[in-house]
Amino acid sequence: MTDISAKQIRIHAYGDPACMKYEQVDAPVVGEDEVLIQQKAIGVNYLDTYHRRGVFPIQELPGVLGVEGAGIVGAVGANVKDFQPGDRVSYAAPIVGSYTDVRVLPSRFLVKLPSKITFEQAAAVTLQGLTAHMLVNRVRILSPGQTALVHAAAGGLGLILCQWLAHIGVRVIGTVGSEEKAKLALSHGCSDVILYRDQNFVDETARLTNGEGVDVVYEGLGGDVLDRSLDCLKPFGTAVNLGQVADNLPSIDISRLGPQRALTLAVPGIFAHIRTCPSLQNAADELFGLVRSGVIKVHIGGRYPLPEAAQAHRDLASRTTTGSLVLIPE
Ligand SMILES: NC(=O)c1ccc[n+]([C@@H]2O[C@H](COP(=O)([O-])OP(=O)(O)OC[C@H]3O[C@@H](n4cnc5c(N)ncnc54)[C@H](OP(=O)(O)O)[C@@H]3O)[C@@H](O)[C@H]2O)c1
Repeated sequence: MTDISAKQIRIHAYGDPACMKYEQVDAPVVGEDEVLIQQKAIGVNYLDTYHRRGVFPIQELPGVLGVEGAGIVGAVGANVKDFQPGDRVSYAAPIVGSYTDVRVLPSRFLVKLPSKITFEQAAAVTLQGLTAHMLVNRVRILSPGQTALVHAAAGGLGLILCQWLAHIGVRVIGTVGSEEKAKLALSHGCSDVILYRDQNFVDETARLTNGEGVDVVYEGLGGDVLDRSLDCLKPFGTAVNLGQVADNLPSIDISRLGPQRALTLAVPGIFAHIRTCPSLQNAADELFGLVRSGVIKVHIGGRYPLPEAAQAHRDLASRTTTGSLVLIPE
């Protein structure tokens, strides 16, 4: 242990947001391949709520939540050549533990930030934006004029993905839970929105596409949304499942995919992309370039002091948030 301390959001047992405690501990020593980051902003992702509840257990208890952050390199291990103290960096990493003011992490997860990207922007887009990069470049390559249906279009991943798809000429139909979210989605890449509480999204997608259906559906909701989304697809269309905010992982009867409809089901994960991406920095540069040029407008729907991280989790689960949420260390 060092004489540097870290203030962190830790859990001692899995549970509801009340289990999240703001505590001070000794910061860990920097290992040979590691970097110490003085964090300036931390991303909040739906994944963090799965970790908090133990749906996906974290490395150990007590433990720190979070998988994304941005800040300034404070120290580097002996083997680290690509980073030096003072570098501005961000990361999305499968090693859980970003809800902290001081973070130690293997350098392979870090990317450098262009000077015009703020720490808040980086914490808001690194994980969700690299997920959009994966979806656009690896999961289903779409051509201009093709059509996509994006569920939770006004959410963190949704707003970034809709803008990226629109940028490459894809027509984007989004589903949203409120009028306010509809306006936001329409100003962030969607050409049409479906208010799924009032409208049946399967019927409405058919109407908006003259009965043809869409080329791809992206959904992270779980429940019956994936199954119903299959009925929105054209032949050879792709259904992409990204998560399960509705609490249960969807199960699909494979006969629903074909052979008459010849559908593909993809279940991609951001950390597989990060692990296997030929150059993480190139992927991040592409993302940050789109942010800098204004193609992707970063919508931060909530900023919370780090000690109030539990409120960010409550808000995210309440379905009232829009865009990305960030925590700010004190
Ligand atoms: N596989 C991956 O690599 C990857 C990477 C990033 C994100 N994801 C997944 O993508 C999904 C979205 O993540 P995000 O962080 O960007 O969250 P988010 O979309 O900002 O927030 C969730 C949104 O989902 C909608 N929703 C519908 N039913 C809900 C329910 N029962 N409970 C809560 N929300 C509900 C709400 O929007 P409406 O009011 O419009 O319905 C809500 O605002 C999550 O499943 C996440 O795990 C996966």
